[in-house]
Amino acid sequence: MKENHVYSMELDRDYPRIDRGEGIYMYTEDGREIIDGASGPVAVSLGHGIKEIADALGGQAAKLAFAHRDDCVTPVLEESCERIYEFSGGDLYKTFQVCSGSEATETAMKLITKYNTARGKKDKYKILARWQSYHGITMGALSLSGFGSRKKGYEHYGFEQGHIAPCYCYRCWFGQKPESCGLQCAKALENEILAQGPDSVAAFIAEPISGMSLCAAEPHPDYFKEIRRICDKYDVLLVLDEVMTGFGRTGKPFAYKHYGIVPDMVTTGKAMSGGYFPLAGVSITKEIFRVMKEQGVFFPPGHTWSGSPLGASVHVAVDKYVKEHDLIRRCEKMGNYLKARMRELAAKHPTMDDVRGRGLMVGAEFVRDPRTKESFDISLGYAGQIQAACLKRDMLIEASQGCNRGSAGDAIVISPAFVVTEEQIDEIIRRLDEAITEVEEKYCGLWKF
Ligand SMILES: Cc1ncc(COP(=O)(O)O)c(C=O)c1O
Repeated sequence: MKENHVYSMELDRDYPRIDRGEGIYMYTEDGREIIDGASGPVAVSLGHGIKEIADALGGQAAKLAFAHRDDCVTPVLEESCERIYEFSGGDLYKTFQVCSGSEATETAMKLITKYNTARGKKDKYKILARWQSYHGITMGALSLSGFGSRKKGYEHYGFEQGHIAPCYCYRCWFGQKPESCGLQCAKALENEILAQGPDSVAAFIAEPISGMSLCAAEPHPDYFKEIRRICDKYDVLLVLDEVMTGFGRTGKPFAYKHYGIVPDMVTTGKAMSGGYFPLAGVSITKEIFRVMKEQGVFFPPGHTWSGSPLGASVHVAVDKYVKEHDLIRRCEKMGNYLKARMRELAAKHPTMDDVRGRGLMVGAEFVRDPRTKESFDISLGYAGQIQAACLKRDMLIEASQGCNRGSAGDAIVISPAFVVTEEQIDEIIRRLDEAITEVEEKYCGLWKF
């Protein structure tokens, strides 16, 4: 193993050295072709090596690499934010651009506080969230997250303002069935607001479709309507974290569009730049902005690179590319194909159970016994073993543990770039099939069905 000075995640691992990429493929220096089956961390949405986007970035860098948002605005940033407004069908009126989803969450927290202070409600500051959620790795964002394994060891830096049960129909925390549950998971928000006092609760944050903590678990179709109703009743802002789902991956511009509601605030990232620049944002509706403007809210909290013209130029190029190639419709179509093929795998493999997700974000949960949904012992690292078996077959996927109340539960996400073809999906499924077979064979005989 060649010594280098990179602090990688696993200290003793020999990582593939990726040199270039094209579409859903990445290539090592010595020519090995690897399928990027999850688009990095569900981020490189349009695929690698798109010249138009690289040219837009290079052109902007040559023209103007940076202008400080405290002192000026750039035409390209104006164009990017206008495109977000149009892309959202007029919902997302103003956008504050930053460089990561975690920064977006932190910025949303500060906007929420500013909004309520401006309205003379400074004690209304708490932000409720859900268990089994993820909103970023910085301390504020991690505090809001309910992803035990990522919070572990950092709890002393964080705060706790309240978490409610997730909407996770496969393992309903209330022991209910979706047909007859009465949306108890949404009602839990009302109980939490009442218990803490509506005068102290400012906002509720949730992912419209769960990211890596529940690996693409979709909510009950009426969940967000009920959540919206409760938020309105108690003057609580609804913040949707679309860092993973936003900008087309689920087959709509934003995932909230599947549920017939409009949130007050949306955080975004990942597909906003397709991976060609570290870019994210917080968007607010016209109504929230009206209050801010009426109250003359001064909002300095920026990071140095907030509102970067480089990021904006990439988003503009991504937006054009998505429209020119009709990629949102493609996400829906290819996503349906991928999900159907994943369901075929689940029918064949005894440990692969729930297949879930929307568009090109398809998850699957692995269990020791599908009849009881008993999870594997967490120490087996079952999902990680499938991920490793995929890499042996030159394919990267995302894997996660903890979906079963944080203490167990193995799941994966397959989320290729929007440009993926049916033939490439077939190849992804073929390699995944082999990888699951390898891991299942290893444990054959360790359990009975
Ligand atoms: C739903 C969600 N929110 C926030 C984040 C944090 O984004 P970043 O890693 O860009 O800071 C992520 C990252 O995976 C995410 O999936």
